Amino acid sequence: MINPFIATPSRTYASLRGAENDALAADREAVAELRAAIDRVDDVVRENAEALIRAVRYLTGIGFDQFADLGGGRPMQGLDARKLPDLAVVAAHEQPETRWLLIDSDITAITAGRALLRGIAQAEQADLRDTTKVFQAVEAHLDLDRPIAVILGAVLHFLTDQEAAQLMADLWDRLPAGSMVVVTHLTSTGVDPEVVAHGKATYEAQHDIRIYPRTVGEITALAGNFAIADPPSVVRTIEFMPEEGPSPEEAPHFLMWMATR
Ligand SMILES: C[S@@+](CC[C@H](N)C(=O)[O-])C[C@H]1O[C@@H](n2cnc3c(N)ncnc32)[C@H](O)[C@@H]1O
Repeated sequence: MINPFIATPSRTYASLRGAENDALAADREAVAELRAAIDRVDDVVRENAEALIRAVRYLTGIGFDQFADLGGGRPMQGLDARKLPDLAVVAAHEQPETRWLLIDSDITAITAGRALLRGIAQAEQADLRDTTKVFQAVEAHLDLDRPIAVILGAVLHFLTDQEAAQLMADLWDRLPAGSMVVVTHLTSTGVDPEVVAHGKATYEAQHDIRIYPRTVGEITALAGNFAIADPPSVVRTIEFMPEEGPSPEEAPHFLMWMATR
């Protein structure tokens, strides 16, 4: 059931990327407060989107043709302020036979996914803490006998340490060898602790969800048994397979890694 009086991560994230007309009043209020609390939050979100696009291009380039986009969020389909394409569209462009499964707990993301990505992706509602349901969806739409690329974009920071570890352990158990996982994650490393605490408090006050910024060590540890590819190792999103020269030091970012099963 949708509560129009509480912002959701999916809708505020989409608003930050440009889908402001679809936002409800609560989302708009949350976005305004986030922009005031977090320096260049729009750029953090854009860097995240661009880095994930580079990851998907890389993965299709090495032969991946099935993707599980966990916590995939609301597709933008043209609403993105920079006209960045949705990840499923990138994959379909590179490899037309790609099977793309978007999973999200937010029904508004799933409804938009089904409408906007018709013929390109399947969308199923599931909470990543319910891995039985997640894998039912994966089994229904993807072939678990062949490697799968799993995208966890800006979502593990909504799970507790225990929930995130459980998800990663279940992915390790269920994914076939050769699969890969890509993670982007909000970090507290290198950020003034007061800014982290204020940003976390602002986010949690506006959304009905907890958020857990993690240190570089904690984000690295989330990989569990998966082997983090090195290079690129655990890097800022702006440093993940950059297409142009090095980005400015002060550019905002999440942390990111890619790992192999
Ligand atoms: C910040 S958005 C990121 C969207 C997209 N992955 C990206 O990087 O562009 C986080 C998404 O994770 C979803 N989410 C948060 N907690 C979740 C959970 N426990 N299970 C499934 N989805 C979740 C939210 O609904 C939202 O769509």
